[in-house]
Amino acid sequence: MPSLSFAPPSLCAPLLLSLPPTVTHLDVPPLFRSRFVLGGYRQVGQPWQRYLLSLLQLHNDSLTVWSPLLAAAVVSLRFLMFAVLAGGGVLGFRLQGPEGQGLSADVSSLPLVLYVFSALAYLGCSAAAHLLQPHSERAHYSLFFLNNVGGAIYLYSCALALHLYSSDAAWTQSFLGKIFLPAAAVLSWTSCAASCYVKVRSGWTCTFHRKLYSLTTISSISPIFHRLATHSWTSSPTPSLHLLQVALSLLSAFFFSCSSPERLSPGSFDFLGHSRQLFHVLLSLCTVVQQEALFRDFLWRRPALARLFGAERLLLACTSFLWLTSCCGMAALALRSRLQNRTSTAAEA
Ligand SMILES: *[C@@H]1O[C@H](CO)[C@@H](O)[C@H](O)[C@H]1NC(C)=O
Repeated sequence: MPSLSFAPPSLCAPLLLSLPPTVTHLDVPPLFRSRFVLGGYRQVGQPWQRYLLSLLQLHNDSLTVWSPLLAAAVVSLRFLMFAVLAGGGVLGFRLQGPEGQGLSADVSSLPLVLYVFSALAYLGCSAAAHLLQPHSERAHYSLFFLNNVGGAIYLYSCALALHLYSSDAAWTQSFLGKIFLPAAAVLSWTSCAASCYVKVRSGWTCTFHRKLYSLTTISSISPIFHRLATHSWTSSPTPSLHLLQVALSLLSAFFFSCSSPERLSPGSFDFLGHSRQLFHVLLSLCTVVQQEALFRDFLWRRPALARLFGAERLLLACTSFLWLTSCCGMAALALRSRLQNRTSTAAEA
């Protein structure tokens, strides 16, 4: 069995040639169409292997698939390097306790581990969803629901990590700082449920959920805004990384909530440069930069973290992540079964 690679071309070329060429929006069912993207579609209803292979083909979602894949590779390599270089403690457990013996749990690194885990989950779901969804209507819905759950837990883990490691100590004690995490959880869940609901109701045509998602993105990084506004961030090691992260998030939120630039010239951005691609490229970059900023803030904040929040509150915050994940999962499953009921009644009718 030849393995899949770019070289030698003699093995790869026949496989690639077996892929059907891309088609126009008129050749796919309305559910699969995007507004203002007229070409570069892969045919719907092909076997799974074709979609896996389409990783090596240029189509409307090539960049949308490759950017999270590359970001996931960078995020995991960088995390492994950090875990080794910055010493024990990072995986939530130290091989050596403070007295030099035994295992000891390190609650203060748990949120960082959750963050990396959810970033990888989100990037993986996103790449898989865009690569494989044209397989069938059912795959399309299921994979996008998975993608929405991944997105919501990633946003909440950002909020959690930024709140704990990067926010200004005075802000965390303020009223806003106290309601921040519960509010971020509610927003993440609502935006996940709304995206799934809109998908069940009307496919891609409504954009309300996109605006809600953008709002969630912006609010999940809001601890950084406070630092920028009060200048207390100059005392931290990462002002430039945070500035870059905010710029990338805002830009990605902008492209997510509008259909520019393809709206300006339908058909010109089919393969490269439409809003969905720009959103994924920017968000992938943002994740890499954000992780870097978080590593530094983690080292900076770690000694004071347990004193600032208390070990119990830290654990509670991490448990809330599991809660949110299951609530989002349940919402997606409930809406998916609603969809199945609808299609089976339609089939009976
Ligand atoms: C790309 O094509 C697939 C079908 O092959 C479709 O489902 C998807 O919505 C298209 N993406 C964009 C951004 O047009």
